Amino acid sequence: MKRSRRLCILAFMAIIFLIFITSSTTSVEAKKHSVKKSKPHKSKHQKDKKGNPSPDSSSAPAAPLPNYPTGSKIFDILSFGAKGDGVSDDSKALEAAWKAACKVPGATLEIPSEFKFLIMPITLQGPCMPHLVFQIDGALLAPPKVSSWAKFSLFQWINFKWVHNFTIQGTGFVDGQASEWWTPSDDIYYIQKKSKHIPSWKPTALRFYSSYNVTVQDIKILNSPQCHLKFDNSGGITVNNITISSPESSPNTDGIHLQNTRDVEIQHSNIACGDDCVSIQTGCSNVHIHHINCGPGHGISLGSLGKDKTVACVSDIVVEKISLLNTMAGVRIKTWQGGVGSVKNVSFSNIQVSDVKVPIIIDQYYCDKSVCKNQTGAVAISGVTYDQIIGTYTAQPVHLACSNAIPCTDVDLTNIQLKPSSGYGGLGQALCLNSYGKSLAPLLPSGIDSCLRRDGGAVKRIARSREHVCF
Ligand SMILES: *[C@@H]1O[C@H](CO)[C@@H](O)[C@H](O)[C@H]1NC(C)=O
Ligand SMILES: *[C@@H]1O[C@H](CO)[C@@H](O)[C@H](O)[C@H]1NC(C)=O
Ligand SMILES: *[C@@H]1O[C@H](CO)[C@@H](O)[C@H](O)[C@H]1NC(C)=O
Ligand SMILES: *[C@@H]1O[C@H](CO)[C@@H](O)[C@H](O)[C@H]1NC(C)=O
Ligand SMILES: *[C@@H]1O[C@H](CO)[C@@H](O)[C@H](O)[C@H]1NC(C)=O
Repeated sequence: MKRSRRLCILAFMAIIFLIFITSSTTSVEAKKHSVKKSKPHKSKHQKDKKGNPSPDSSSAPAAPLPNYPTGSKIFDILSFGAKGDGVSDDSKALEAAWKAACKVPGATLEIPSEFKFLIMPITLQGPCMPHLVFQIDGALLAPPKVSSWAKFSLFQWINFKWVHNFTIQGTGFVDGQASEWWTPSDDIYYIQKKSKHIPSWKPTALRFYSSYNVTVQDIKILNSPQCHLKFDNSGGITVNNITISSPESSPNTDGIHLQNTRDVEIQHSNIACGDDCVSIQTGCSNVHIHHINCGPGHGISLGSLGKDKTVACVSDIVVEKISLLNTMAGVRIKTWQGGVGSVKNVSFSNIQVSDVKVPIIIDQYYCDKSVCKNQTGAVAISGVTYDQIIGTYTAQPVHLACSNAIPCTDVDLTNIQLKPSSGYGGLGQALCLNSYGKSLAPLLPSGIDSCLRRDGGAVKRIARSREHVCF
């Protein structure tokens, strides 16, 4: 009797002690991050993504994590002083939340729904502990005034650098609020006049630099000043179920841009913007793009490659099960005259086109001025297959303009069925210049079957002699 009462008292004291410890740690944290009264989110903090209570400190291994309460792996931007009103600058809060989450394996940085966070150009830098999730359920907004972008910040808005095993997901969106960038105002003029060092490009919305094993899924990316989602010097990339949208009239707004990036899968997404839906630049290989709705915009592009006699290497690209609506090009490879290197092993298949100006394009005379100087060199193009390209066009069905010096080889056209859109009679014929390969019926319009030249061994040797720079 006496003994059990003593045990009871001991247990009671232990509980009081535990409560004291817990509350004092919390208050220290509260001071440190000047926690806002965000009660509705509090309960969410304590749960993991499946809605189970998160493990408390006793079940977690005793890893010392001095700057954050053990147990919670959810780092809500509101707990780091963010206002979330869409007007106050919440960049510091995002940076603090990132730094805290970055230290904890399997952490989630939460952008809560029903809040909007104005974020100035920022770099969120790794390396972080693995399996960090950036959960965007609310909105991230870029500064709407061009004049509020510092001139050193024009490369991108949100820059993820050196992140590995990282995921962005959520039902929310990031909005570049870029309308002022698209209609040049006094602000842009002012910036350009003040400094000769301003590059002519405009910021990319989300950029990943030197990052591996990254997944971007479910979110929406809207109204970027220029490119919406860019990966460079990266690898192991998955993009899934995202929406990219900006007005058709917005100049140079690419959807997804890849450069120097390998092992990429882009799937189940909708992309509508003013420029290329997906743009694949030099240094890319093993890229698989499928189940994409693209348009309006410029279609899916490899290039432009080889500008100013530079080396370009692109290989092992698969683009399949794509639907293009009201785009300028369908699937396109574009290179500048005078370039070096190669594009090889590219497959375009099961492409549905509707009211696309020119569904199939290879342009080795790409030029952004009215006239470009003729050059003898070219990025060699070989092993490009087109299979099941079906639908309607508004200008020309096929336009293969390959280099005089280095013709395109192993270009194969199989099951091409292209009809003029209704109301577009008497259109241009298929063009194949310096293009070698074979074609296989059905081929519509019928001119396509005699368009390609049968491949000659000598031509292939010329093309192969150019590939070595890429290995
Ligand atoms: C990324 O995750 C994979 C699989 O869980 C693991 O093998 C790898 O070591 C991780 N890489 C880093 C840099 O944490
Ligand atoms: C990427 O993921 C793969 C498979 O999970 C793993 O083997 C590799 O180490 C990871 N790479 C990095 C840089 O984390
Ligand atoms: C795609 O993302 C949306 C949020 O934007 C989400 O509601 C939906 O469940 C996702 N679909 C799949 C198949 O994951
Ligand atoms: C062509 O690319 C595909 C997809 O990346 C790859 O599976 C295949 O092995 C490549 N073929 C050659 C001959 O390199
Ligand atoms: C370039 O070459 C083409 C065809 O060989 C020719 O028609 C054109 O006039 C040349 N352009 C210039 C700028 O010399």
